[in-house]
Amino acid sequence: MSTNTDDAMPLVRRALAHFVARTTDQAAGIMPMPVAAYTDPDRYRHEIDRVFKRQPIALCLSIELPGPGSYVALDLLGVPVLVVRGSDGAVRAFLNVCRHRGAQLCPHGSGSARVFACPYHAWTYDDQGALIGRYRGETFGDVNAAELGLTPLACAERAGLIWGVLTPGVSFGIDDWLEGMLEPLAGLRLDSWQIYTQRDLPGPGWKVALDGYLEVYHHDSVHGRTVGKHTVGNLLVWDTFGPHQRLVFGRRTLGELRDQPESEWEPEQHIRRVHSVFPNLSISGILGDHCLVSQVFPGPTPDTTITRQTVLCATLPETDEEREAADTFSAMTLQAVQDEDYQIGFGIQAAIRSGANTEFLFGRNEPAVQHYHRWVAKLSA
Ligand code: FES
Ligand SMILES: [Fe+2]
Repeated sequence: MSTNTDDAMPLVRRALAHFVARTTDQAAGIMPMPVAAYTDPDRYRHEIDRVFKRQPIALCLSIELPGPGSYVALDLLGVPVLVVRGSDGAVRAFLNVCRHRGAQLCPHGSGSARVFACPYHAWTYDDQGALIGRYRGETFGDVNAAELGLTPLACAERAGLIWGVLTPGVSFGIDDWLEGMLEPLAGLRLDSWQIYTQRDLPGPGWKVALDGYLEVYHHDSVHGRTVGKHTVGNLLVWDTFGPHQRLVFGRRTLGELRDQPESEWEPEQHIRRVHSVFPNLSISGILGDHCLVSQVFPGPTPDTTITRQTVLCATLPETDEEREAADTFSAMTLQAVQDEDYQIGFGIQAAIRSGANTEFLFGRNEPAVQHYHRWVAKLSA
């Protein structure tokens, strides 16, 4: 599946210029970052609250809620969330918590339901969160049912993703939040892909894990046998859209373009885009018909994360050949993240309190890492 081809030519020109000159997009200077930014538990709690719980994050993909009545129940950063596509087609998010005495309403997972019944005393809610039934209500006593609907979370559907804020009462404007990133994201047409597989990977701490999604400096050394096999290490074409970023890598075929007139270029063949939506979503279309969506969720302490990897296919594989291609892509992305990135990350994590470093250094060739940390600071101020 091709994505937003309109902007491919200028991106390829920029990538080729770097390839020829052995250069890359750069930040103005090297940026030091105190190691305490990775380890301090008070700072962690504060940043998680400001960055993850008061800004919109992608809760799930639109295609995880394929029709009216479909729902997803999940735990995000310790917040129990129920996302439902109502019979009116609109998506709403709620705390997945019964208003009687706090039981979790819906078991984690996905499915389809018109009515949600609490497992504890069987109070029932409709697909818009309204309390519609109380088992033996006449013995319970009168309540104002209108005040006992599920607690809503601000929610919006845009660019094939469901966005929400994990703190009740905090609202947002999704178009303002995504700014210039909306168009590149919409160009991926995420709502027209199919889910091939989804898995949750334990990882190192939030920033240790995230840093690895934001630079291509490590690709030759860490990913030489997987996702780095076909890309040019340390060549980054970088654009920012508010806190969000697009990272473009060059494929090793880039050099062939030196000898071809631009009119013969097939630009999509020579670059790979990664869309990095602040603070924890990364979408990479590494091979044409396959796409990896990664959501990195910080754990209860600074040293752990869970990464939800969703592998998408342009169409669900039907032939053995298509199945093999999807399996190969899926296995490669698992290996690259679990056995390569996160192996290094767990090593960093294990040594982070050794005293070897009081600060880490983000190089000029790691501008996206710098940008990310500047936005964490800005939103946490
Ligand atoms: S806690 Fe849900 S009905 Fe009692
Ligand atoms: Fe990596």
